Amino acid sequence: MTRLSLEDVSVAYGRHRVIHGVSIPPVEDGQLLGLLGPNASGKSTLLRALSREHPSSGRITVDGRAIHEFSHADWYRSVAAMPQVPPALSALRPVELVWSTARTLGLGLSDRALGARIDGLFQSLGLDAVAMAPLATLSGGKRQLVGFALAMIRDPDLMLLDEPTSALDLYWRLSLMDIVRDRLSTRGGVGVIAVHDLDIAARYCDCLALIHEGRLIATGTSAEVLTSAHLSVVYGVETDIRTGPDGRPEVRVLRTNRSPQ
Ligand SMILES: Nc1ncnc2c1ncn2[C@@H]1O[C@H](COP(=O)(O)OP(=O)(O)OP(=O)(O)O)[C@@H](O)[C@H]1O
Ligand SMILES: [Mg+2]
Repeated sequence: MTRLSLEDVSVAYGRHRVIHGVSIPPVEDGQLLGLLGPNASGKSTLLRALSREHPSSGRITVDGRAIHEFSHADWYRSVAAMPQVPPALSALRPVELVWSTARTLGLGLSDRALGARIDGLFQSLGLDAVAMAPLATLSGGKRQLVGFALAMIRDPDLMLLDEPTSALDLYWRLSLMDIVRDRLSTRGGVGVIAVHDLDIAARYCDCLALIHEGRLIATGTSAEVLTSAHLSVVYGVETDIRTGPDGRPEVRVLRTNRSPQ
């Protein structure tokens, strides 16, 4: 069982505070939290705080334990952080990158078991054909999928995914999100995803947190967070929002309502 909670979390780069006292109701086992907000609102920064990559104040707990209380090895073996930027262009091959990451993490798997896990991941992500191709020769979307495989190789309890579908085509956007959802419902754990796509957010997330200039504007279900008033204030767009057949909001963006800042 995994449970994530954030209370009064603030994050700064040097003296410049970027996240201001964000509290989000606990995310329960099997749930996916979506972080929404405009460019530079602080989504990646909050994810960096959650992954321990960047220090924060306030209290972030996993199963009631403050995140810095976990040993380095336990933390990195059970927490998958997928950064916004995919793996760097290099001569390394995806399969080598994933193998070496898994070895460094010390997952305690035999070569055979690890090989099977990598094969399964690559197959489910359509990466078989490029597994042995240098990363520098891969398309942007394929590199993003390799970044996801790299994060998922540890079979994580906590998935922290920063815009994991931003470079993906329609099929892979949904397929990657289906994999995330399936894992949460069959294996458990908690996921947090930063995302700009409101359709993905409404369709896949159990709860949303809308951030604007480092402050929490709204949190709750997609129907509570995705309102025309919120989207107008935060994104500067006029929207038409209807309730879809599954009860979730469907957002149609009509036009911008302010000049760019
Ligand atoms: N390493 C850093 N050093 C200093 N400031 C930073 C650093 N990283 C981000 N920032 C600043 O923190 C603020 C939040 O940035 P962040 O990357 O968290 O936004 P975001 O919501 O993820 O945006 P986007 O949707 O564009 O990815 C921005 O003002 C950004 O310039
Ligand atoms: Mg970001």
